Amino acid sequence: MPLSAQDQLKSDVANAAIDHIQARLDHDSIVGVGTGSTVNFFIDALAKKKGHFKAAVSSSEGSSERLREHGIPVLNLNEVGELEFYIDGADETNHHLQLIKGGGAALTREKIIAAVAREFICIADESKKVDILGDFPLPVEVIPMARSYVARKLAGMGGSPVYREGVVTDNGNHILDVYNFMISNPIETEHQINNITGVVTNGLFAIRPANVLLLGTSNGVNIQTA
Ligand code: A5P
Repeated sequence: MPLSAQDQLKSDVANAAIDHIQARLDHDSIVGVGTGSTVNFFIDALAKKKGHFKAAVSSSEGSSERLREHGIPVLNLNEVGELEFYIDGADETNHHLQLIKGGGAALTREKIIAAVAREFICIADESKKVDILGDFPLPVEVIPMARSYVARKLAGMGGSPVYREGVVTDNGNHILDVYNFMISNPIETEHQINNITGVVTNGLFAIRPANVLLLGTSNGVNIQTA
């Protein structure tokens, strides 16, 4: 079946990410792999490079399973010292390559791997590019018993938090999606929300933005560096 126009863009950026990293892959390379539908295209493309790198680390059980299905070894991050690159999607990106992530509820593990990686390569289709972050509801991972308390604090900051019912993260926690936040200072907002007791992390990737954005457009893949 032919891909939809948006899936074609996702596939294009996934292949562009392979082109971007392949000259640096060697038999010791560990590839950091994120989560989501765009990353799924990347995992499928990465499988064709099997044997040119050692293993992957991944930000979710779902991605780990897909990697293993392709026969790609998946390591625990604690077994890995250096990580050259991390490839992941985004729900929104601004011009500074600051992101909102966590639509797939994998934000905490994504943020950890992004922190370890020397280069964070974001792959996204053009629908994700915005001037101001916040149209996409900001995911916040919370310790379950703190959910109502954190929701009140987020409402006090001007947002409208909604409990993502039925979702338990890979870490056993809950997600609040915060609507009506137009985030003019992403670094400050990221700090403020992380300082609320009971928050594990929030989906703003501004303190550590992407280094490279591969953006799929109808005119081809644009590359932007921070
Ligand atoms: C997963 O928790 C997210 O951060 C994803 O990276 C983000 O939602 C992008 O997903 P898609 O590639 O499916 O749009």
